[in-house]
Amino acid sequence: MKAVIFDLDGVLVSTDELHYQAWLQIARSEGISFDRTLNDRLRGVSRMQSLEIILERAGHGYAQKEKEALARQKNGIYRTLLGMLTPDALLPGAREILCTLRKRGIKTAIGSSSKNAPLILQQLQIETLFDAVSDGNGLQHSKPHPEVFLRAAEYLREQPQDCLVVEDAEAGIQAAKAAGMQAAALGSARTCPKADYRLDRLMDLLTFFPMCNNKETSATDWLG
Ligand code: BG6
Ligand code: MG
Repeated sequence: MKAVIFDLDGVLVSTDELHYQAWLQIARSEGISFDRTLNDRLRGVSRMQSLEIILERAGHGYAQKEKEALARQKNGIYRTLLGMLTPDALLPGAREILCTLRKRGIKTAIGSSSKNAPLILQQLQIETLFDAVSDGNGLQHSKPHPEVFLRAAEYLREQPQDCLVVEDAEAGIQAAKAAGMQAAALGSARTCPKADYRLDRLMDLLTFFPMCNNKETSATDWLG
């Protein structure tokens, strides 16, 4: 394996919770019931597709213009929440795993459906820890379509079979497999039968990439 492609929301950072909070406000304003089980179906899929899934529970149809307004409203709420994001929102082990993989000669990339990924990476101050970023901007198809991961491999100049994807979404695991990549599942994606590996925590990834020299040792180096 030459590269690891990380999903962002729910894998490296707890922004999945912020998506949930923002959608909850929209659903409430429309009188639609919304819970964490439904929220799990929104993981990995685009903003508009997420809205379509929520609106399945509405008692009536929505015009395209109304849907666009709701999606815009949700993004406004979400971006306000993102404004408060600090490097502390990184999930346990995220910075360490990225630094260690790079030290071990493994390339790292983002493979996210989010159009807000550049803002999130900036807020977290981790832009320099990736060799490539493939996000929702300019994407034709959302996960489970493999486009976002194939584009990441292309940016990395690696073959799909040399890439490992880390995902918390079932749609993401399906996308990785459709791209011909290996797929490691975290969180709710662990129940996905297509996953090649199931991780309890991000740091478990390191067992796939043994240390390549004696120089790389200190835990404090990870923070550099
Ligand atoms: C994914 C999230 O990373 O990005 C989805 O898991 C979200 O829940 C999608 O809908 C799109 O995000 P954004 O930031 O472009 O609305
Ligand atoms: Mg995710």
